[in-house]
Amino acid sequence: MNREDVYTLLPEFHWIADAALKEKCADVWVEAAAQSGWDKKGLENCPVVVKGLSANCPYNNLDHTRGVTKLSATMYDAMSGCYPEAGACERDMIIAGALLHDVGKLFEYDLVDGQPVLSAEAAMFTHPTTGACLAKKHGLPDKVTHIILAHSDLLSPGGSQAFQTRESLIVKNADAMCFFYLLKHYGA
Ligand SMILES: [Fe+2]
Repeated sequence: MNREDVYTLLPEFHWIADAALKEKCADVWVEAAAQSGWDKKGLENCPVVVKGLSANCPYNNLDHTRGVTKLSATMYDAMSGCYPEAGACERDMIIAGALLHDVGKLFEYDLVDGQPVLSAEAAMFTHPTTGACLAKKHGLPDKVTHIILAHSDLLSPGGSQAFQTRESLIVKNADAMCFFYLLKHYGA
């Protein structure tokens, strides 16, 4: 998988205004795919979660990531229209963080006989941590790395008590909305 494949799978990458940031973020997806063994075609079978949603849920991790990115951008635009201080948030950081928030799931899940299961390393390293480590390795801004690290009440270090920036608060809540929406309709 290369950068162009990432842009095809996740067209919202083109919303990142800073070209260098866009390329670094794409490289995180490229390396995650290469290291974890998920390829472009296989990613269609990478689920949002391996437990909790029924098998007839038609949405995968890519669909979820796009939904979280769209909602995060919309939340930022709405918030900055209502509250002047929200305009100080960095829109590129929010979009980049949303696009990368679940990239660590490529390490957390494996496909066995076509079925997604938790990987062996999932017990030691959850997806917010692995995603943040990879982002750090690629030199992403701290605000983006932190969005990835702090987005899950359940799996982030510090859980619901984790420190939040204004940017991470937007992505974390967009993620929760998108996830609980699926849970409502496809909960198993
Ligand atoms: Fe998510």
